[in-house]
Amino acid sequence: MRRPWVAGNWKMNGSHRANAELLSSLGDVSIFSDIDVAVVPPTVYLQTVIATVAQSSLSVLAQTVSEFESGAYTGEVSVAMLQDLGANGALVGHSERRQLFAETDKQIADKFAALKNAGLQAVLCVGETLAEREAGETLAVVSRQLLAVLDRHGPEAFDHAVLAYEPVWAIGTGLTASPEQAQAVHASLRAVFAAFDEARANQLRIVYGGSVKGSNAAGLFDMPDIDGALVGGASLLADEFLAICKAAQKSA
Ligand code: 13P
Repeated sequence: MRRPWVAGNWKMNGSHRANAELLSSLGDVSIFSDIDVAVVPPTVYLQTVIATVAQSSLSVLAQTVSEFESGAYTGEVSVAMLQDLGANGALVGHSERRQLFAETDKQIADKFAALKNAGLQAVLCVGETLAEREAGETLAVVSRQLLAVLDRHGPEAFDHAVLAYEPVWAIGTGLTASPEQAQAVHASLRAVFAAFDEARANQLRIVYGGSVKGSNAAGLFDMPDIDGALVGGASLLADEFLAICKAAQKSA
């Protein structure tokens, strides 16, 4: 049985005041004792959020990280810096990074490896665009995105990592993949992984992201290969995020 995982990606939202209010409304997430819960604030707020949740079981991840160790990379933040702050890991390859900031599969694999080598958690995001889905390319696209990391770093690099399937057409659009649509992709991703290492494939947490909310979470979590959620918009609303956590706890 895989332990459910739920994370709230705040994207480029928040302020000191809004973050404090949100965290205070979330309260003590350790009541959800059978799941892992994380928040993913903008980098500039990591330190404050980490200090605020220090006594709780909530983990704190960055939204991205540099693939480089240190040096002349103006504007970038390294894995060592995240570690220095006490962050638990980072997302890599979010579709907004791939699409809006032209991140490549190779770069994403390097970021993944940099996190892994430092002992931090990497959350690899994969997902197809609407055009790719309509062209019947969904499985080819998500497999390529997964293999970009698996081929380079092997299945053991995924110990403690999380794989997030986030169809681009479902992000922030209110269009959720149906539980069956998401399940089909999750099962295929697990099969791709199993060709490398079946035992690790069975342990790998594959979570869904794309317009997850309190009202649709349980249906998604009922599916055998959906092990949690990476939540965007609904994670900014304490009641919604707590409802998603509750559904995950029930599915555990
Ligand atoms: P929404 O939940 O707002 O669709 O965003 C999903 C997402 O991109 C999480 O990383």
